[in-house]
Amino acid sequence: MADLDAYKKEVGVRAAGLVASGMRVGLGTGSTAAHFVRALGERVSAEGLDIVGVPTSNATARLAADCGIRLTTLDETPHLDLTVDGADEIDAALRLIKGGGGAHLREKIVACASSRMIVIADETKVVETLGGFPLPLEVLDFGLAATMHHVEEAARAHGCGGMIARRMTHDGQPFMTDEGNAILDCHFRTIPDPEGLAAAFCRIPGLIEHGLFIGIAGGALIAGSGGITTMGNV
Ligand code: A5P
Repeated sequence: MADLDAYKKEVGVRAAGLVASGMRVGLGTGSTAAHFVRALGERVSAEGLDIVGVPTSNATARLAADCGIRLTTLDETPHLDLTVDGADEIDAALRLIKGGGGAHLREKIVACASSRMIVIADETKVVETLGGFPLPLEVLDFGLAATMHHVEEAARAHGCGGMIARRMTHDGQPFMTDEGNAILDCHFRTIPDPEGLAAAFCRIPGLIEHGLFIGIAGGALIAGSGGITTMGNV
């Protein structure tokens, strides 16, 4: 069986090589982005690479600090040069599903504050049609049943069915994001019209952010049995 973690490390290290001294860097969340953060930290200590990072989650903030990466915030540094992040699914048009770790709200804010977003992933994340991975929605706890009703209607109108469920932790507690909100996971299996669905979700009050990233990623590094391939501009 392919060693997915080795693939993730390969693209993490390759992406760390894209960072130059002086850059302001968005630091993604998840197991693939963690390899990038560690490789970047190694360059900081070995080469004295002079960079600042904006983490996309509390977990990434802790990891980056442990790796010796100087951190800043979007309030101090509202424009970034490059964000490197993982994805749960990526299609040929560089449309993504993100949020498997519940961090897509901050991830989208950081990516959209950057001149470039590069996705790093192993080849299992590349799909023909988005939706096999449950689409995460960050939602306010207030009025959750009403929000869910709007979500179901919007989904139906855009050809999506399937279960929509509040994310729970392993010990049966409601999952909470770094912002203290809930996550709904939409088990659509297929999303025939990602742009239309994304636009409809943006109109729902109480739905803070959906995990569709459309027109945000400029390129991707994908690792698999044949080595690293690129999509878009890297
Ligand atoms: C975090 O919320 C996600 O968007 C991650 O970027 C995504 O789940 C990819 O994570 P892995 O690299 O662990 O698969």
